[in-house]
Amino acid sequence: MAIWVPDLTGRRGPAYLAIVEALAEDIAAGALAPGARLPPHRELAHALGLSPNTTSRAYAEAVARALVRGEVGRGTFVRAPGGPAEAASAADLRRAASGPIDLSRNLPNRGAAGEHLGRTLEWLGHDGGRNGDLQGLLDYHDAAEPDRAAAVALAWLARLGVPASADEAVVTVGAQHALFASLLALTRPGDLILTEALTYAPLKAMAARLGLTVRGLPLDADGLRPEALEALCADHAPRLAYLTPTLQTPTAAIMPESRRRALVEVAGRHDLLLIEDDVFGPLVLDAPPPLARLAPDRVVYLSSTSKVLAPGLRVGVARAPAPLAAALRGAVTLSCWMAPPLMAEIAGRWIADGTATRLTEAQRAVARRRQALAAHAFDGLEIRAHPCGLHLWLPLPTGWTADALRAEAATQGVRVTEAAAFAVDPAAAPEAVRLCLSHEPDEDRLSRGLDTIRRILDGPPGRTGPLVM
Ligand SMILES: Cc1ncc(COP(=O)(O)O)c(C=O)c1O
Repeated sequence: MAIWVPDLTGRRGPAYLAIVEALAEDIAAGALAPGARLPPHRELAHALGLSPNTTSRAYAEAVARALVRGEVGRGTFVRAPGGPAEAASAADLRRAASGPIDLSRNLPNRGAAGEHLGRTLEWLGHDGGRNGDLQGLLDYHDAAEPDRAAAVALAWLARLGVPASADEAVVTVGAQHALFASLLALTRPGDLILTEALTYAPLKAMAARLGLTVRGLPLDADGLRPEALEALCADHAPRLAYLTPTLQTPTAAIMPESRRRALVEVAGRHDLLLIEDDVFGPLVLDAPPPLARLAPDRVVYLSSTSKVLAPGLRVGVARAPAPLAAALRGAVTLSCWMAPPLMAEIAGRWIADGTATRLTEAQRAVARRRQALAAHAFDGLEIRAHPCGLHLWLPLPTGWTADALRAEAATQGVRVTEAAAFAVDPAAAPEAVRLCLSHEPDEDRLSRGLDTIRRILDGPPGRTGPLVM
């Protein structure tokens, strides 16, 4: 059978990019259909009279551009249209009452935060405990000076069972900013950082911007495996490891206490710094102790009010040993000077008057109801979830690829995110998807979305890949 050979005539620039360009054109023109298998890169190199390094690089670039997907042991296949990058930019964050049902965004339920905000702004307008100093919310603050925002950070950390002193707490503009500030402060270009094989997607983009190399560590149902961390620490000199032990992004795993202890023990032996992203921690009442409590000297702990109060508050907190916290404060100053004091003031009020507790419990109640809907819809299938989690992980039945399910679901009006979008190595991503349950405002729409996915999976597998060119 004839293999696909790109026409490189007249193309300028490096040969590997010319191959990628030709590939993109052939896909756009329909000459290569979704699921078509590309020839092994050595075979293509031979056909083109190029070195296998060149074709291997071309395939790697095509995977990075989400034109094709590699399946370990099977080959390289043309993706269905609307891959992860396209899906992320196409889907917007509006909570629409019509149009596609969006299970791809991990936002909390909108809830009653807006009503509380109205009352809190009114209270602030009537002086709200500031003794006439509303102006203080509008001035530049010195990030090194402990102020009201720092007190709010301490109050938030105390709610999460993470003890901290003022010199250990840093206020940020959300947890994503806390992560970026941590990487900015604690790494240098060229450093190796470790993370879970499937991880919070912005980490990869941040690392690329900061010139860091990322290695993914294997996961199981309990999260990251300490022996894998041990092996990498023994052979390399990683600068730090970033992980999400509670409601792992995206697999929803909750790491048991014994494994947390094993992990910090390995980190201690190799003098490894850990960044613990606990952004979902406030949802889980029965979560094991944060790593930051087990090993406060080597953990940078990140949290925010996004998943339980409101993401638009953009109030985040990092807790780190004092010298590292000072470096983080420097990174906050560099990146945004300071987190807006007004937002911290609102969060502080909500913590003090019980609103934070009520909003968090309401968020858990919505999650419980929606996780029950999902458990019902996927009865008999293996799903991984926590009753109070905003998302769930759905490993696909045999025969299905995540690419095919994502594409078919999109055709039927439901957006989901496939494992490859979170994978440090997309070619090794499992056939699984993440479904987010709290973003959609309407529970009937959510149910319809879940039922659609179930119906698709009950049908014949829409596997991309058998078409061999
Ligand atoms: C693991 C993880 N960390 C951080 C964030 C960002 O949180 P924030 O809105 O506080 O920046 C998210 C948001 O989805 C997340 O899933």
